[in-house]
Parts: sequence; C-alpha cells; structure tokens
Amino acid sequence: MAVSIDYAALLAPDLPAPAPGWQGRPPYNFIGGHVDAASVPVEDMIAATATALRRDGATLSTYGLESGPLGYRPLREFVAAKLKKRSGLSVSPDEVLITSGSIQALELVYQLLCCPGDTVLVEQFTYAGTLSRLRGLGVNPVGISLDESGMRADLLAAKLAELKAQGIRPKFIYVIPTIQNPDGSIMPEGRRAELLQVSAEYGVPIFEDECYADLLWNGERPPAIAAMDEGRQVIHCGSFSKTIAPALRVGYIIAEPGLVAQIAACKEDGGTGALEQMMLSEYCWSHFDDHVDKVTLLLKEKLNVMTEALEEHFGTTAEFTAPPGGIFLWVSFPDAVDAMKLASAAAARGVAINPGPDWSADAAPARSRIRLCFGNPTHQAIRDGVKVLAEVCHEEFGVPVRSGNIERNSQSN
Ligand SMILES: Cc1ncc(COP(=O)(O)O)c(C=O)c1O
Repeated sequence: MAVSIDYAALLAPDLPAPAPGWQGRPPYNFIGGHVDAASVPVEDMIAATATALRRDGATLSTYGLESGPLGYRPLREFVAAKLKKRSGLSVSPDEVLITSGSIQALELVYQLLCCPGDTVLVEQFTYAGTLSRLRGLGVNPVGISLDESGMRADLLAAKLAELKAQGIRPKFIYVIPTIQNPDGSIMPEGRRAELLQVSAEYGVPIFEDECYADLLWNGERPPAIAAMDEGRQVIHCGSFSKTIAPALRVGYIIAEPGLVAQIAACKEDGGTGALEQMMLSEYCWSHFDDHVDKVTLLLKEKLNVMTEALEEHFGTTAEFTAPPGGIFLWVSFPDAVDAMKLASAAAARGVAINPGPDWSADAAPARSRIRLCFGNPTHQAIRDGVKVLAEVCHEEFGVPVRSGNIERNSQSN
C-alpha cells in the first residue's frame, strides 16, 4: 500500500528555508563570484582530463586516489609551488588539505574552532558567506573597521583589550587581506605585520582567506600573512574558483601538519571530487600562469567598462575605488539610498546586485552600499545593466538626479 509521508512533520529544527526553484539567471547578473564564461579553458581541460585519467585513472578505485586523506598529491604539490611563487608562502604538500571549494575550508575551520556563544573578529565589511556561517553556528562575528589598508590594527587591539576585560577571548581573526571582499583593497605588508603582532599579543590566531589573491592587475602583492608568520599563528585558505572556475569546487587549507590532520579528520565527505583534482593538477602545472595572465587582462577590461558605465549613469553619486584586482566593485551611494530596497527593486527589473548590509558585520555602515560583480556579464550587459540600475535608483530614491546633472557631475569626476 502506497503511503504519502508528511516530511514536514519529520524535519529537524532550524533548517534553512527550502532552496528556491531555478528561474534562470537575471539578464544583468552582478552578484556572486562567477567568472567570465569565455575564459574557461575548456579544450585544455579536456586534454588535461584525458592525460590525467590515462596515467592515474585506475586510482579512482580507492577513496583518496592513493594519495591519502589530504587530497590528490600532485595537486597539493602544485598548490605548494604556486603559493611559494605567488605569495611567498613555503609549505610542504603535507601542510595542504584539498577542500571542496574554499567554502568547505571555511566550514571546516569554523567547525574545528567554534562553539555556540563564541566570538570571532572580522573586517567590518566581509564575505557574506562567513557571516552567515558563523551566525548559523551561534557565533558572534564582531566587525573591526577598515581603512584603505584593510582591517585597522589599532582598533583590533582596542577590541581585543575590551573583550579581554570582559573575559572573552575570540577564537580567531578572519581577514581577506589580498583583494578584500567586498572592497577590493590589498593590505600592505606593514599592516600585515601589525596584525600578526596584535594576534601574538592576545594569543588569537588569524584565519587568512586569499581566494582572490591570484587575480591582480599587475601581479604585485605583499607576502601572505601566513608567509610572515614565524610561529603557528595563521591558518590560510585559497581556491581555484576565481582563477579557473567556481563550479569545479576545489579549494585548499594550509596549516601546520598537526592541525591539518585534525581538520582532515573533520572532512568526512569521502574526498573532494577526484576528476576535478586530477584535471586541475594536470592543467595547472603547465597552464596556470598563462591562464591567470589572460583572465586578469579580461577582468580589468570589464572593470573599466563598469566604472565608465557608473560614471556615465550615476555621475558623482556613485563613489568607489577601482580595485587592483578581483571581480568586485564596492559602491557607495548617498544616504538617501537604501541598498536593501534598491536590490529588490532592481531585481524586479532584471538587475541582480548584492546589497551592502549582507556584506557587513553591522548593517548600518553599509546601508547605502552595494557590491557589483563584473566577472560574468559581457561588456554590453554591464553597460545596459548599470543603466537600468541608475533608472531604478532614480525612481526609488531620486538618486542620481536627472536633467543634465549627471553629465555635469561626471565631467567634474
Ligand atoms: C572571501 C571568500 N571566501 C571564500 C569563498 C568561497 O568560494 P569557493 O568555495 O568557490 O572557493 C568566496 C566566494 O565567493 C569568497 O568571496
């Protein structure tokens, strides 16, 4: 006899809302961390997959590809070589744990270190995925203000002193120092050193997220904070999502071997996708540098298209600093603009934007800010989408003002 089960009555408490049905992408998609479709190196990936499978395909017969719980060894070797070359970080492949995207890296570290009621220090404006995950674990993310050099070390020290006086020792300090998300800044070496010093003084580790760090217009960057760490103060993570493709779901964590082994014990998924790891390793050893050069050139062009479109349609009412790399522009509007309302009004017209409050430890400072991703849309979609966004913003908030002011404003930019 067939029975219709009422699953609603069986569900565990506190689940997230059901995933909405797939409606397709909006015509003007300025959200998420998507990359340029034409830049995905499909043919080279096909060749790399075939080569890797011919050589190591038989190891698919075992969990872990005969490389152990940390992930496919040739890929860990590539990650170690890439970090040495690009961020000055010297690690052995045994200090690299391959994860299913850096989202899993974040989740594993949060699972490892956090209990409900804990405090974690974050940049005031930070990755929405970190804020939602920490809050989901009952952790309190406390924002530290940023300046053009990233998280302010003086304010960090003051907050740690204040918390210490209350008997609170935060579990870690989460930072995105190289192409900060959302503001796109690069923390200079001096600020990194200051952060390390404060971290040492209070015995609070740093969790460094460098998932955009390879996408730099001129390739120049300070060493990773982990590379400057003479003790064991820093856990580091990165990703292939923004340089190669986000749907591959491959990232990594770097920590000292004992901690990596502990994190690996928490990674109970049977291993990150084997084909992806094999293909990426084969592809990256011979193509990564050239590919990244091409992608950054293309992204820089898209950024220029976006900043020109903003200047044309918003004039001086949209303020931003063009970032030295990455895929995002962090835009600030006059106080009259409520970014949450703007995001829903724009969505109704086919323009998807990330409202600033979602990217902020406290909503208020980001009330009139939005984050625009220029990685995925074409040049034309960027121009058209920004134009529609300006129309919606004008209709909702009178910003930008019409009747010739925009042109005058943009000339004075
Ligand atoms: C700062 C930051 N960290 C981590 C992630 C997770 O990316 P992925 O899991 O695709 O590597 C993102 C995604 O956009 C991000 O912006």
